[in-house]
Formats: sequence, C-alpha cells, structure tokens
Amino acid sequence: MKGAFITATGTGVGKTWLASALATACMQQGKRVAAIKPIETGVDPDPADALQLAHACGNESLANAPGLYRAREPLAPYAIEKRGGPSVGSLRSLAKRVRELANDADYVIVEGVGGVLVPIDRDHTIADLGALLDLQTVVVARNALGVLSYTISAVEALRKRKVSVRAIVLNHVDRDLKNDVSRASNADVLADYFPRIPIVRVPRVQSPDGMVDAASQLLNILKI
Ligand SMILES: Nc1ncnc2c1ncn2[C@@H]1O[C@H](COP(=O)(O)OP(=O)(O)O)[C@@H](O)[C@H]1O
Ligand SMILES: [Mg+2]
Repeated sequence: MKGAFITATGTGVGKTWLASALATACMQQGKRVAAIKPIETGVDPDPADALQLAHACGNESLANAPGLYRAREPLAPYAIEKRGGPSVGSLRSLAKRVRELANDADYVIVEGVGGVLVPIDRDHTIADLGALLDLQTVVVARNALGVLSYTISAVEALRKRKVSVRAIVLNHVDRDLKNDVSRASNADVLADYFPRIPIVRVPRVQSPDGMVDAASQLLNILKI
C-alpha cells in the first residue's frame, strides 16, 4: 500500500487541511486516492474530519465505512474507554481495514488523531498504528513559538517506535502575531536538528485549496 500517514505535534495544527490538500494534489496527477480517518472522536453526530477527507478524494462512503472507530466525546480513545465508551480494539485489525478500504486506490492518505502519542488504549498510542500502516509519515507542526521542542519530541517519539519521518510540515496556522519572531527561524533550527528530513512550509491560507501548491511540493518529496 502506497501512501502517507499524516500525524502531528498535537491537535488543531492542520492535519486535516493538509491531508485534504494532499488528496487534491494527488488527484490532479490523475491518481485514485483514498483519504481515511481511521480513528475519530468528537463525532457529534458526524465525523467532520473524515467527511472533509472523503469529500476531498471524491469517495463520500469512506467517512462512515464500517470498521473504523468513531466516538462522540472529544477525548483521546483511551480516555473514552476509561469512561465506559467504546474501545478501539486491535490496531492490527484497524490497519487491515484501512488497507481494504484503500484497495482500489493508487494512493492512501491516512490522518492520525491528535499528536503522535495520543493514547489509543492502555498499551498503544497512535504512533503504533502509524508503525503498522507502514506508510510515509509526515509530521505537521504549527509554526509558532514552542514548535521546536514539540517537533523534536514528536520525531524522537516516532523514531523510538521505528517510524521514520519523511517530511515535516511547518504550517502557518495563526494570524500574524507581531511578537512571534520564532517564525522566521524555526525552519532553520529544525533543519539543523534533522538534516535528512525535508521541511515544507505552508503559508496561512483561506481553505485547504490554498495549500495545494505546498501539498504538491510534499508529493515530490515523497516521490509520489
Ligand atoms: N495554513 C493555514 N492557514 C489558515 N488556517 C489554518 C491553516 N492550517 C490550519 N488552519 C486552521 O486550523 C484549523 C485546524 O486545522 P485542522 O486541519 O482541522 O487541524 P487538525 O486536523 O490537526 O486538528 C482549521 O480549521 C483552520 O481554521
Ligand atoms: Mg483533523
């Protein structure tokens, strides 16, 4: 299975927007794409991320396909399980389900949930699903003060779990805060820490469509 696993330093940093833009960029190259969110919480009543991804790849049925984890509360899956809600179950089965759903596609784009170490159950985090999927892993990070530590922590945590990071996306999520001078140097510092990991900078945009150029750049890096 060829594709990308989109994880991040945390929630709300642009995974869904990037994954949608990546799906669009891939389809512009004439590829059949399956964009999937295997685990989504805060589903009340619809899986908003999964729907956005499904819409982007033109396959609405992927959002509510059986066998994917959906839960109402906006919490980590393990927190939901501890409160008596549904548990994710076997990550191996979930990875197999993703593969089945992507069977007809040339390329699969899988969005994680939250940041790299979100607890899925007592013994597993989303990084373990990433390892099982064995796709090209992309870490999305918010280009703002603090991103250095968040990103270095994320890359090291993934490496420890045998997931190598193929690209870092520095995403300009926030409106310009004049006093955040870190934005100008964050990419350079990360490049020194990770000389072999390409960094793609994404500007502030109005919608995922505004990210398609950056997503195409990412596709070139991933050699898709
Ligand atoms: N490059 C960007 N420019 C402007 N707003 C962005 C950008 N990236 C993300 N956002 C904003 O951040 C929100 C969270 O992005 P999203 O992709 O849903 O994050 P995640 O999937 O990581 O939780 C989006 O709804 C959008 O409002
Ligand atoms: Mg998302």
